[in-house]
Amino acid sequence: MQRFLNSAKIYRMDHDWKIDDFCDASVELVRRSGLEQCYIRPILFRSLDEEHPAFGVNPFPNPLACYIGAWDWGKYLGDEAIEKGVDVCVSSWNRLTPNSLPAMAKSGANYMNSQLIKMEALLNGFAEGIALDDRGYVSEGSGENIFTVSNGIVNTPPLSSSVLPGITRDSVIQICQELGITIKERTIQRAALYVSDEIFFSGTAAEITPIRSVDRIQIGNGERGEITAKIQKVFFEITSGEREAPGPWLTYVREQKARAANQPGAGAANNGRNSKAKGKTESGATPVEPELVARARAAAME
Ligand SMILES: Cc1ncc(COP(=O)(O)O)c(C=O)c1O
Repeated sequence: MQRFLNSAKIYRMDHDWKIDDFCDASVELVRRSGLEQCYIRPILFRSLDEEHPAFGVNPFPNPLACYIGAWDWGKYLGDEAIEKGVDVCVSSWNRLTPNSLPAMAKSGANYMNSQLIKMEALLNGFAEGIALDDRGYVSEGSGENIFTVSNGIVNTPPLSSSVLPGITRDSVIQICQELGITIKERTIQRAALYVSDEIFFSGTAAEITPIRSVDRIQIGNGERGEITAKIQKVFFEITSGEREAPGPWLTYVREQKARAANQPGAGAANNGRNSKAKGKTESGATPVEPELVARARAAAME
C-alpha cells in the first residue's frame, strides 16, 4: 500500500485517504468476497463528473476515484511453472527510461510497455519476456522482478535498472538474509543470464517461478535450481501461515486468525490493523467503498 501511495504521489494525485483506509478496505473486500485465495488490485484513477467532464491532458480538474478488485488468479505463468520453470526470451522492447515513465510508480501506463514485451514473447512461443533497461542491462519481466544465482550468490538488478520495487522482490531479499544466502543488488548483463546457475522471477502473481531457459539456452540443468527451491519453500511456508515471517508481512482477514495472531508468541503477523474501528476514517475522509471486480478475473484468464 505504501508503494500505491508513492505511485499516486509521483503522479501528483492528491487525496485525503490514509494508508489504513486502503488497507482496511482491502481486508474488508477479501473478507466479504468469500474467496479462499485472491489477488488484490487497488486502482486510483482520474475520473470525471458532471462538473468536470474533462478529457484533456491536464488531469488536475478531474476528481480522483478508487476501486479495489479481488479475484482468484490461479497460477500466473501456468500450473507447472512453479515446479518445472518457464522458457523465456529477452525482449526486443526495452523497459521504460527513468526520465520518461518512472518504473518506480506502478501505473497503468507502464503496462503498455509490459504488454508489448508479453505479446512478443507469447507469439514467439515463450512464457514471458525479460526486458533490458535503456543501457542494455537486465531490468525485469513484463510483470515480475528477476533474480539470478551464480556460485551460490543471489543477484537482482537495482531499482536504477528501471525495475518496479516489487513486494515479492523485497520478500526474497529478506528470505535470503534469513537463510544466510548472500544477496546482491547489481547491474546484470544480458550474457550473464545465459551462464547463470539458476534464474527465477518474483511477483505477487508469479510468486517465485524458476526460469529453465533464456532465448532457448538452458539455464543450469534446465530444472528448478537448489537455491531457488529453498527460497520458494520458505516463501510458500510464510505466505500460507506455516512459518513466521521475518517482518510484519501478514494481515489476517478472519477474526479467529486475527485473535490467534494477537496471542503472545504469534509474531508481528496482524500488524494491528484489524483492531481499528470501522466507519468514518481517522482522516475524516469518506471510506473507500470496496468493489469486487468479478469480470476482471475472466478478462485476466483469457
Ligand atoms: C513490471 C512489474 N515488475 C515486478 C512486479 C512484481 O511486483 P510485486 O512483487 O509487488 O507483485 C510486477 C507486479 O505487478 C510488475 O508488474
